Amino acid sequence: MKQITIAIDGPAAAGKGTLSRRLAETYGFHHLDTGLTYRATAKALIDAGLPLDDETIAEQIALKIDLAGLDRSVLARHEVGEAASKIAVMPAVRRALVEAQRTFARRGPGTVLDGRDIGTVVCPDAAVKLYVTASPQVRARRRYDEIVANGQVADYDAIVEDVKKRDDRDMNRADSPLRPAEDAVLLDTSEMSIEAAFQAAKRIVDAALN
Ligand code: CDP
Repeated sequence: MKQITIAIDGPAAAGKGTLSRRLAETYGFHHLDTGLTYRATAKALIDAGLPLDDETIAEQIALKIDLAGLDRSVLARHEVGEAASKIAVMPAVRRALVEAQRTFARRGPGTVLDGRDIGTVVCPDAAVKLYVTASPQVRARRRYDEIVANGQVADYDAIVEDVKKRDDRDMNRADSPLRPAEDAVLLDTSEMSIEAAFQAAKRIVDAALN
């Protein structure tokens, strides 16, 4: 059987992660959350006390990121996500990380990659492309519930503002801005439960693979 890649893109907190993990499990494919590669680069810079605005230094760190060692629980902090979206505007950083992501994407029997530019830049030939989205209010609500479920205090209005700021930075950067690929199927999960979104995504993938 031909090697297959499923590309999943969308804005912050749209639910790509959960969907991608479940799709990968369902089809027996390898999964890569490419956001973690940007987060790992940002965290390594922060931990080493290095600047977040020096492209050459950030590129050196990006070239050393090991995809096997990525752990969302270690990289989950809000500040790490913010720093990730800042270094993600740097072309040299993107080149280094995209190279590693493309190598991962070729693994057999298949792969699921999620991020911002998978269908447009990393895997333009992916067999299936999904663009998962939801309104900023719904996405902020999901983030809020996640934080509260972890026993922490959250401010809903501040999270809405954060989500909008992150969208703005991701959609308006010059290199690989967040946008649906022309051949992506749009999936708006604003009114869907996780289960309903997964079922909808699975139908789209099954249709494309048949
Ligand atoms: O989980 P969350 O939506 O906060 O973001 P993430 O997927 O962990 O990604 C963090 C940041 O990395 C994003 O805001 C993007 O700026 C950047 N990113 C990117 O530029 N390209 C990707 N393929 C994945 C993430």
